[in-house]
Amino acid sequence: MSKVIVSGIQPTGGLNIGTYIGAMKNWKQLQDEYDCMYMVVDMHSITVRPDPAELRERCLSFVAQYIACGIDPKKNTLFIQSHVREHAELAWILNCYTGMGELNRMTQFKEKSQKNQSNINSALFTYPVLMAADILLYQTDLVPVGQDQKQHLEITRDIAHRFNNHHNGEYFKIPEPFIPKIGAKIMSLQEPCSKMSKSDTTSKATVYLLDEAKTVTKKFKSAVTDSGDEITFDEINKPGVSNLITIYGAITNQSQEDVVKHFEGKRYGHLKVETAERMNEFLDPIRSQYNELMDDKTFLLQTLKDGAERASEKAEKTLKAVKEVIGFLPA
Ligand code: TYM
Repeated sequence: MSKVIVSGIQPTGGLNIGTYIGAMKNWKQLQDEYDCMYMVVDMHSITVRPDPAELRERCLSFVAQYIACGIDPKKNTLFIQSHVREHAELAWILNCYTGMGELNRMTQFKEKSQKNQSNINSALFTYPVLMAADILLYQTDLVPVGQDQKQHLEITRDIAHRFNNHHNGEYFKIPEPFIPKIGAKIMSLQEPCSKMSKSDTTSKATVYLLDEAKTVTKKFKSAVTDSGDEITFDEINKPGVSNLITIYGAITNQSQEDVVKHFEGKRYGHLKVETAERMNEFLDPIRSQYNELMDDKTFLLQTLKDGAERASEKAEKTLKAVKEVIGFLPA
């Protein structure tokens, strides 16, 4: 039996080159060898109470972008989290195996509640428990994510160990994070010391997969770089240049050393322009396939229906065993 991979993205803001390089690029690479479950985690995204019509549209758009990026709906199980009710059910149960103290240590909770002081709801706090349910339902081996999700993977493992130990059995497989060595944290083009974010829609900080070619070029041309003029990889002293080297390498499949060698004797301007060119070559086919897919909503909806059915079948097995061992009377 092949190993199981699970991952997901929140339908907030837009998919961008950070989410692609940090997570989706690995999703694509893993799809040939593993049993992969890739979802749009709409239940996670409602902590910020999005506009309902926008949420519906974004879920479909994200799935179309997954496919346009090369995530094959025939090889993988693509689905929407809320279509598989077992996620919410297991999350409730796992809440009873999770400490307030450990949730309090989550850096994302601290950051997000600081940014959004008018709506610090309890779901924002228990969010990692739902993520643990997403993963543990499928007896998952590997979870391909970016650096910022490492802590959530650690708490998932702790919850799984605790449940297994308490009930003296292997009810959940203990998952491993799969974080890329290069590109696990793509930085903002405007503030190269902060992470590129999905929701930064106002500035030139984030390059979206669906940005028009001229917008991509403009964003790279105005990327913030560092003092000096030599193109070297040095994340401490040259965070802006190093970020561009990482992006260039990730989308052309070259090592950082090869990229630095390629730009020997050239200036920052060359790096920005060429990165924009390579990026547009990479994004062109994605943009056009995306448009075709969005014109065929029937296909997208059928893909999601099939995906949810397959996911639910697997999830139900885990949930049934869990309910039994905790003592729920069978329905
Ligand atoms: P989310 O939606 O914030 O991000 C989706 C994925 O993209 C990665 N990522 C990045 N990687 C590199 N550089 C960046 N600038 C960058 N920005 C985002 C994230 O690490 C993530 O892998 N809680 C998760 C979603 C989730 C999930 C799951 C993931 C819910 N359930 C189960 C895996 C398995 C989140 O909010 O990711």
